Amino acid sequence: MFKQLTEAQLDPILSLSIAYREDDRTDKMDLGIGVYRNSQGETPIMRAVQQAQQQVLATQTTKAYVGLAGSEVFNQSMMDLLLTDTSAYSRAAAVQTPGASGALRMLADLMCIAQPETTVWISNPSYVNHKPIMEAAGLKVRYYPYFDAVTKQVDSHAMLSELAKAGPKDVVLLHGCCHNPTGADITFSDWKAITALANKNGFMPFVDIAYQGFGDGLEQDAAGLKHMADNTEEMIIATSCSKNFGLYRERTGAAIVISDSLKEAQKAKGRILNLARSTYTMPPDHGAALVATILSDPSLTQIWKQELDEMLGRLLSLRAGLTKAVRAQGSNDFDFIEQHKGMFSVTGLTPAQIGRLRDEFAIYAVADGRINIAGLQEQQLDYLANALVTVSR
Ligand code: LMR
Repeated sequence: MFKQLTEAQLDPILSLSIAYREDDRTDKMDLGIGVYRNSQGETPIMRAVQQAQQQVLATQTTKAYVGLAGSEVFNQSMMDLLLTDTSAYSRAAAVQTPGASGALRMLADLMCIAQPETTVWISNPSYVNHKPIMEAAGLKVRYYPYFDAVTKQVDSHAMLSELAKAGPKDVVLLHGCCHNPTGADITFSDWKAITALANKNGFMPFVDIAYQGFGDGLEQDAAGLKHMADNTEEMIIATSCSKNFGLYRERTGAAIVISDSLKEAQKAKGRILNLARSTYTMPPDHGAALVATILSDPSLTQIWKQELDEMLGRLLSLRAGLTKAVRAQGSNDFDFIEQHKGMFSVTGLTPAQIGRLRDEFAIYAVADGRINIAGLQEQQLDYLANALVTVSR
């Protein structure tokens, strides 16, 4: 049977981590996968997570199953983080999933059974796994213009003109904040305009928010999403605790469905649970138990928020530092790095230039030109700036 298989296609992000690990150059730099690193180049367990782990260890008495929806305390906490306590909250339901990828897939499967002819509109470019997940679920995918390669910002006019063509059989996938891969975010007025279009044309918004807290702060990063959730009848959300709780390997995320009533949202939740049962059955517990512990305890919540703010502050100073280091090399071609939000920036480098970064400088970045600013250390800025300017000449 298996002889008929063709070779697997390598994932453009995950395959980079393997190549990086196998590189024995001592000055190598991993700017590929979206992982935060501190000044020592480590991805530490966050302080609140460490304390929550101690609590869970001391109080957990069983490893018996939790249930298809995972921890309901966690699910509630995810809605608290993302929704206002007004309109959307009272007509929303959440399911714990194995990371946001699990949420994306469950929501894609849900759309497929509710409306098989759905087309999901994704930004050009978008997170490399959006298209594969939507297509694996059986949905059609279409791109809308997003990134202006010259200004390195969102081309709002082109985006809104195209989205004006989306109709009732369409779903528009948006990044809640910290757009992956570009680092260029839509403005609050874009959120309002897309919300108005959704209401006028009847398409459903689908928000993937995996970097809340890494743009302008926890509250600010969800402002557009909240507005949209409060002002549309139906909306779905995939969210992740990988980055803002540093729980990457614990696979901790949630799928949220907002409908016109709690009853409808609960019905959708029930169908997601059916889908989960026939896929992975139940999500892993540990990460969600830690998040639930942190967000149920005001002092742990405070510790978590403070560390997240520190991480954001460091990320902003890395962005400013890299821009300054590039300018010191006599170029202002990378000034956009300081304006971008979140972990990533698309540099505009071609795959050949990204290849040169790797071959000549041992710098690993995604072939689409994305670099992970959050993976940098302060002492690497001059080296990276020199490499960027050299390969882009
Ligand atoms: C990334 O974009 O680097 C992360 O979201 C990791 C992943 O799962 O691709």
